[in-house]
Amino acid sequence: MSQQRITTLLAGTRSYLPPEHGRSNAWICGQEEYELLSKRALDDPSDFWGARASHLLHWFKRWDKVLEADEARHKYKWFAGSRLNASFNCIDRHLIDGRRNKAALIWQGEQEMDVRCYTYQMLYTEVCRVAHALSSMRIRKGDHVALYMPMIPELAIAMLACARIGAVHTAIFSGYAEGGVRSRIQGSKAKIVITADAAKRAGKIKPLKANLDPILEKCPSVAHVVVVKHANLDNVSMQRSRDIWWEDMIDDFTLNSDFPCEPMDANDTLFLLHTSGSTGKPTGIMHSTGGYLTYAAHTTQWCFDMRDDDVYWCTADIGWITGHTYGIYGPLVLGATTVMFEGVPTWPKPDRYWRIVEKFRVNIFYTAPTVIRSLMRTGEAWTERYDLTSLRILGSVGEPINPEAWQWYHKCIGNGELPIVDTWWQTETGGAMIAPMPYATMLKPGSATTPLPGIEAGVMASAGRDGEQTAAGSLVIKNPWPGMMIGVYNDEEKYQSYFSRFGCYESGDGAQIDEDGYFWILGRIDDSINVSGHRLSTVEIESVLSACPEVAEAAVVPMPHSLKGEAIYAYIATRDDVPWNDALRKTLREMVQRDIGALANPEYIQFVNAMPKTSSGKIIRRVLRKIAGDMYDDLGDVTALANPEALTAIIAGHRNILKGEPDTGAAS
Ligand code: WTA
Repeated sequence: MSQQRITTLLAGTRSYLPPEHGRSNAWICGQEEYELLSKRALDDPSDFWGARASHLLHWFKRWDKVLEADEARHKYKWFAGSRLNASFNCIDRHLIDGRRNKAALIWQGEQEMDVRCYTYQMLYTEVCRVAHALSSMRIRKGDHVALYMPMIPELAIAMLACARIGAVHTAIFSGYAEGGVRSRIQGSKAKIVITADAAKRAGKIKPLKANLDPILEKCPSVAHVVVVKHANLDNVSMQRSRDIWWEDMIDDFTLNSDFPCEPMDANDTLFLLHTSGSTGKPTGIMHSTGGYLTYAAHTTQWCFDMRDDDVYWCTADIGWITGHTYGIYGPLVLGATTVMFEGVPTWPKPDRYWRIVEKFRVNIFYTAPTVIRSLMRTGEAWTERYDLTSLRILGSVGEPINPEAWQWYHKCIGNGELPIVDTWWQTETGGAMIAPMPYATMLKPGSATTPLPGIEAGVMASAGRDGEQTAAGSLVIKNPWPGMMIGVYNDEEKYQSYFSRFGCYESGDGAQIDEDGYFWILGRIDDSINVSGHRLSTVEIESVLSACPEVAEAAVVPMPHSLKGEAIYAYIATRDDVPWNDALRKTLREMVQRDIGALANPEYIQFVNAMPKTSSGKIIRRVLRKIAGDMYDDLGDVTALANPEALTAIIAGHRNILKGEPDTGAAS
């Protein structure tokens, strides 16, 4: 491959390739280019990332150094000394590069006829108005703004307005209930919360503002609440001098009010996003402005082969990292057209996604395996009635995609010919890490394939011999990359814990590398459960369950689930004389739903007399996990168990649970 071709690839300028590359004409063509780029990136990371950053983003001031590394503290400053603004990169630059009247955001509301489309110019106007308004409410660079909003355009506008003034946004998934929202607002010390009267979900109205009000009594940092009138709810209570309607907030600012972008240091925080930690307290992952944005744009371009006339749709909610990187920042930096959908795939009928693909002629479609599995169950007829020929690339994220779902996706949505880009990554990594490049990487269904150029992934022995390279074990990343988190908010110890075991970034996932160097992700090996692609903390759920006065102890483990990937299985040891019945189960479920949200609702709740414990009193969750997964014959080493007799009763109880028989008796 010529030097010129490498330069072209790094620059991201399209060069049309010879016809043997067929319909792809992709950014990266074939294994050879991939290997050369990977070599180049690892040999000279500064040159590689510097070239990508300068071509993908507009910098007000260029960096002094591509990477400033403090290896001892695992702190990496990308593009140190530079200045840029994320809102400028997502909007302003496109006003002068010929995309002013291009659709930036196409929003499909829950109702079929509810569609809004924003060109880059329109987005600019709205974002400037909101930036102005926030600024007049004394929100300044570095202040935190919580966004507890449904999937509506105002959410994207609010994010970009925060970025414009240098405020740090922290999105809270609108499906979270009281405790989940409270801990995230408290954890981020947000000054303002932007919300809506309600979210619309599967034909139902879910109040958000009313849910927020009692929470705010325990969040003293919040001075103002901005409320988008979305569902036109009557009787929304608005607290004088604290609450303001979105439309009133922006009303004062004329339509042509330009608002200048705050020049940010590349290492200033762009946003904070909480993920489930191992402590039960959500972990506030901080992402930088320069490194994150470079990595978001870089991976969007290479993994999705983004072209200028593409309509691109990432179905993830913006409350998660996927919605941040691949719903908003990546595509908008590239000047693409991104689709945002408020509804769910199965309402009013399980054809909703395919209707949208046909309606907007979507070219790139990125979703989660759990969605594929649920749609697969509803039958192929729902896909057959739509013209899906606009699609060019399919993507998958959030959990391992099982081969059956892969094949269905490939056949029924991809017409048996489209590549499926299975992207492995995490909130902490900012963007895809292990993923194929469409039409270049040979695919193996169920494998996220190989690390992207510049990413050095490996698998380490999971027990004992730290640091040893092995075929199956802990998935680690050995070198820094621009999308990497820059810290954990107010918790340096937690940040360091990612590096403490192997001296490099530990993902918390198990993985295996096959003879071709392909990575197979085996799932979480820490205290997280991945339910339908949503990462939940077992400790967080356990602490809610344990708060119930009838409960003596709670242990939560994942169990395999054909639709959700993993489901939650809760073992409950009750206090003396508490009857085991469905009423208590209902109470426990309600507590979880009220505190964390419906997504954390246990699939099964099993009452037990005693938990399996070590002699020091530690619950052996490993054994409980095996039982929940029906693997009684393979309980592993149980010699450390102080009360082996407990196992027989737990296994019997588990069998009854699966048969749907009620638990008998009470704890005695
Ligand atoms: C899992 C979502 C297998 C994994 C982007 C990871 C995956 C966790 C894949 C991160 C994939 C994500 N194959 N597993 N393609 N993508 N995961 O932080 O366990 O919400 O650690 O980020 O999802 O979840 P998070």
